[in-house]
Amino acid sequence: MKHIKEFSKQADSYDANSNIQKRVSTYLLSKVTSSPKKILDLGCGTGDINRKIDWKYTKFIGVDSAYGMCEKHPKSLAISVLNSNFEDKIFQKDILNKAPFDLVISSSALQWADDIEKLIKFTSLLTQNIAFAIFTCNTFKDIYNISGLEIFLPDKKELLKITKKYFNITHETKRYRLEFNDNMSMFRYIKKSGISGGERRLTVAQTKKIIKNYPLTYLEFEVLFVYTK
Ligand SMILES: C[S@@+](CC[C@H](N)C(=O)[O-])C[C@H]1O[C@@H](n2cnc3c(N)ncnc32)[C@H](O)[C@@H]1O
Repeated sequence: MKHIKEFSKQADSYDANSNIQKRVSTYLLSKVTSSPKKILDLGCGTGDINRKIDWKYTKFIGVDSAYGMCEKHPKSLAISVLNSNFEDKIFQKDILNKAPFDLVISSSALQWADDIEKLIKFTSLLTQNIAFAIFTCNTFKDIYNISGLEIFLPDKKELLKITKKYFNITHETKRYRLEFNDNMSMFRYIKKSGISGGERRLTVAQTKKIIKNYPLTYLEFEVLFVYTK
């Protein structure tokens, strides 16, 4: 869970450097066509989802393991932010007491789960309605190929198999491309966006190798959207 520290460290620059995640959250919210009143956001970050909700809700609970992110999240009588790991047993026991939720949403965060199946199974105890955007293993595929770094992001087919076990879902895959002027700024972006993670991030040697050998002017991201109607 070293990536938690990484996210907390990046909280200040996260908003400015998270253009793809912002596009992802906007698209994810466009898939929520009901107006859920009681919402849980897993990996809420600095509150992008919360700020973009344009309907009236009665309760919004955001959970994030990075304190720096939680600090920046909007708070009010209707908004609570829990600084917890969403896979933690104590958190899960506590949130189960607050169930059911009209919607459990999560944007650009579930790919970090140590055991995503266990987490999605647990989510099915909280709600029947989900909206998840999850980065898949096709994200930064070329970087993984060049560096020899082991891909840790989840496989799309596997994710679909798991979510279909617990929810009646619709899904869609989107690819995003982000252009850069040079490889150096590309890697600065990876670091600041929080996508590279802590534990699984590139070593200095791997980073140097990529900066030298990366043949493209862009980064590619693949995101799986799974949602109930
Ligand atoms: C890329 S950010 C996305 C934040 C927000 N959902 C958005 O769309 O802007 C991923 C967030 O997930 C959080 N996160 C990752 N693993 C987590 C875990 N196991 N429990 C709680 N939060 C986690 C990170 O701290 C980070 O704030």
